[in-house]
Amino acid sequence: MVIVLDFGGQYNQLIARRVRECNVYCEVMPYNISLEKIKELNPKGIIFTGGPASVYAEGAPHCDKGIFELGIPVLGICYGAQLMTHLLGGSVTSAEVREYGKTEIKVNTTSKLFKDVAENTICWMSHTDHIKTPAEGFVVTSSSDSCPVAAVEMVDKKLYSVQFHPEVVHTQEGTKMLRNFLYEVCECNGDWKMASFTEESIQALRDKIGDKKVLCALSGGVDSSVAAVMISKAVGKQLTCIFVDHGLLRKNEGDEVEQIFTTQFDVNFVRVNAQQRFYDRLAGVTDPETKRKIIGEEFIRVFEEEAKKIGTVDFLAQGTIYPDVIESGLGKSAVIKSHHNVGGLPEHVDFKEIVEPLRLLFKDEVRKAGLELGIPEKLVFRQPFPGPGLGIRIIGEVTPERIKLVQEADAIYREEIANAGLDRSIGQYFAALTNMQSVGCMGDERTYDYAIALRAVTTTDFMTAEFAELPWELLGKVSSRIVNEVKGVNRVLYDCTGKPPATIEFE
Ligand code: XMP
Repeated sequence: MVIVLDFGGQYNQLIARRVRECNVYCEVMPYNISLEKIKELNPKGIIFTGGPASVYAEGAPHCDKGIFELGIPVLGICYGAQLMTHLLGGSVTSAEVREYGKTEIKVNTTSKLFKDVAENTICWMSHTDHIKTPAEGFVVTSSSDSCPVAAVEMVDKKLYSVQFHPEVVHTQEGTKMLRNFLYEVCECNGDWKMASFTEESIQALRDKIGDKKVLCALSGGVDSSVAAVMISKAVGKQLTCIFVDHGLLRKNEGDEVEQIFTTQFDVNFVRVNAQQRFYDRLAGVTDPETKRKIIGEEFIRVFEEEAKKIGTVDFLAQGTIYPDVIESGLGKSAVIKSHHNVGGLPEHVDFKEIVEPLRLLFKDEVRKAGLELGIPEKLVFRQPFPGPGLGIRIIGEVTPERIKLVQEADAIYREEIANAGLDRSIGQYFAALTNMQSVGCMGDERTYDYAIALRAVTTTDFMTAEFAELPWELLGKVSSRIVNEVKGVNRVLYDCTGKPPATIEFE
């Protein structure tokens, strides 16, 4: 195991991901972790992330200097590099202008960190401060025109620092450098594999849960499904999954989820057909936030009613994943973000503890674990789908008829995207129903029907997104199929807005 100390940099998650991609397990820890805790964890290496502060600033995050005396290899990145230098007696200075972007650096290829790296290579710089004088005992192993000290090292103490960001893809040989640190310096074995992780997790769940009961709110999405299957592999029918069908799912989704969980996995599966309750409460409501609130509240209510029938359970399972844990502020305290998928935690369900089997996994790792556990690809690679479902993909009132329109159009759109082989490369795509009706002509008849909006975005973090440039031919085919096959639609529009200024959802 390697630990990544979080100094608040925007790429902290990325560093952890890259390390795991090298088959080395790692966890992100707060920068002020105690030396005792580090010794207890006994990591093979430590990586300091970047961060927005200047090492000399008041209140800047500093770690215990004793870290450098533990004999554990340390790699400092950007702020981490400056901090290591500062704490060990070197100096850091502020550049007049921020250096930002791709930069060519020269590296000393005899350094273990730069083994097999080209002597002149491109890296990504993003900093104002930089190392001026390396700390005593350190030698410079890389430089660029504007940054004379781009990397330093003290081989005997296994301390390494880089001013640039090896974790981002713009650093062409960045992964190689991280791999070198992990394998050449830390001497990791690279035995972190998904298969062993799932096996170990199942055993750990078995030990923790014993003969007690677990309750899980299953949404049919990737995270809750993988969490449920993992628990079911551990304790079988001690797990009850409640799947609330709110009638706002995609076409055939409810039946598909039911089919998978009742035929392929050993769990108590309860499907609650609560469609009408949701439709009744949504009748006449057009404001998107009000819809969200209604759906969230009703969801909790239905879930609680069903949970009451089961009685007291010992554990409530949640599909919290690692980015949720990190985003909730490891640097300060490890508060858990409430799972917005099901509209918050139920308050009136009796449970003693929460189990979160995916707490340490990134999204792509959750998918790998899902495949490992035998969950069908169709479910594992499912598109992200919001908890309030189609309720927030219909502008204006949500009625069963309008839900049907968007379900049908969306199914055609997804099918054609898959036919074009684009289903795993686009970040998110779906059809939404606008509240615009307009005149059209079909056959010899005049129509006055709805317009469907198609949305497709590319994104890495879902915080920002760009509209995807889908081939015209594909859009033409989808449009023609939708107007021909979905009665009540006579126009198809493509949304070419990014986020910001729009959002990904169309509500
Ligand atoms: P927006 O529309 O905010 O969406 O740009 C960003 C991402 O979040 C998803 N989303 C939700 N997911 N419950 C969820 O589980 C929600 O209430 C919700 N609202 C938006 C959206 O699909 C996109 O991936």
